[in-house]
Amino acid sequence: MTSTLLRTKNVEQSIQDTEEPEHALRKSLSALDLTVFGVGVIIGTGIFVLTGAAARNTAGPAVSLSFILAGVVCALAALSYAEFASTVPVAGSAYTFSYASLGELPAWIIGWDLVLELALGTAVVAVGWSGYIHSLLDNAGWQLPEYLAGRETATGFGFDLLAALLVLGLTAILVVGMKLSARFTSIVVAIKVGVVLVVIIAGAFFINGGNYEPFIPPEQPTVAGSTLDAPLIQLLFGWAPSNFGVMGIFTAASVVFFAFIGFDVVATAAEETRNPQRDVPRGILGSLVICTLLYVAVAIVVTGMQKYSELSVDAPLADAFKATGHPWFAGLISFGAAVGLTTVCMILLLGQTRVFFAMSRDGLLPRFFSRTHPRFGTPYRPTILLGVVIAVVAGFTSLSELAELVNIGTLFAFVVVALSVIILRRSRPDLPRAFRTPLVPFLPALSVLASLWLMLNLPAETWLRFGIWMAIGIAVYFLYGRTHSRLARVEDTPKKAAPKTNG
Ligand code: ALA
Repeated sequence: MTSTLLRTKNVEQSIQDTEEPEHALRKSLSALDLTVFGVGVIIGTGIFVLTGAAARNTAGPAVSLSFILAGVVCALAALSYAEFASTVPVAGSAYTFSYASLGELPAWIIGWDLVLELALGTAVVAVGWSGYIHSLLDNAGWQLPEYLAGRETATGFGFDLLAALLVLGLTAILVVGMKLSARFTSIVVAIKVGVVLVVIIAGAFFINGGNYEPFIPPEQPTVAGSTLDAPLIQLLFGWAPSNFGVMGIFTAASVVFFAFIGFDVVATAAEETRNPQRDVPRGILGSLVICTLLYVAVAIVVTGMQKYSELSVDAPLADAFKATGHPWFAGLISFGAAVGLTTVCMILLLGQTRVFFAMSRDGLLPRFFSRTHPRFGTPYRPTILLGVVIAVVAGFTSLSELAELVNIGTLFAFVVVALSVIILRRSRPDLPRAFRTPLVPFLPALSVLASLWLMLNLPAETWLRFGIWMAIGIAVYFLYGRTHSRLARVEDTPKKAAPKTNG
């Protein structure tokens, strides 16, 4: 039984699977495409929306330090992702990596976890996008009826029509093909980065040094609410739940971490990259460095423009310009944010379909989903299925709690990937690795600890929800995946016909 759960898929087999013509994705991406992809998905709701609440409620101007902390946690994880993606260049990211090293059950768990990260992440960003569009429409004097704007009405019904339509539109683009979406992405990324630079450069002229005092606001006990709202670490150690102070910097880091999600998605496109060994590490690390620098600069500028306690929660960057008497800049920023969030949503959706595709190709989900489109070469079946499901979720959900759930799922994936790097170095030292994480096992071990630390700073409630989701996943594995897995079938056929596995 244990050997079944820990059976591993050998790396050569993983790569060979991608070469079967009817299950093959087209290889068309370069390092630049990947970096653009990375920046395209990384800069989004996190910086444009969550910065405001994190500064206002938990960290004050020290939110810039929270961005640095979250960036360091991601950089540590990125080293592991880069090594893996350059060794196992197959769609599916952390899922594929863990299948090759830890075994089938851990791989399933991580795949199931990535579904949570990417599907809910797509929904969160779609809702954020719709918020910006509503604000632009408001400016033009147009408004959707409340029940189609995502706000609960007296009858209790509220559906965010724009968020749902965005997800469906992007689904159609992804079905038609990668190339079109990459081109579309480049234009949008240029607009988004341009707007972020406008915030930094123009905003720097409106900084008032007094707003940085106190840089780390003194600790404040939280208003009594449900205990489950408090970070798990505070409950574990019996600390009185509080905001601000040094611990507030960590709490904020565990929230603004959402702003960095996406660099790992670059690894999901490894199979579609012309030279994955060289280009995937460049794409992952390059996009992460660019975004960290921009975030820290934005955080410093925005908390300097407006007192942290007055920052807006819905559109903090645009509203900081309004507060300093520059509404024209505010409109420009809202427009850029709305355009920019489109690509974030699209790439999260793309990563999601690729993970689902890889899991189905391995038989852990029905094989029906792993047939690529005869003309477009895209995994159109999971793309359409997930697009519709996510559109519904986006229509009915709100932002903040979902973002925390996405964060815990992603940090959990970081832990598994870093462990996998250590394990695969021992079990398959012979594999060519175009990119090697330095100082193994120390850096991956540090990555595990850093990710766990941020997880502990998330609310207890988020841990509970995450636990429920994972329990459902384990049930699905035992009821379906374990018996339908391709590896299970290989084990059932006579030994001489079976391809070699290293489990
Ligand atoms: N990092 C992405 C964002 O901030 C998911 O929206």
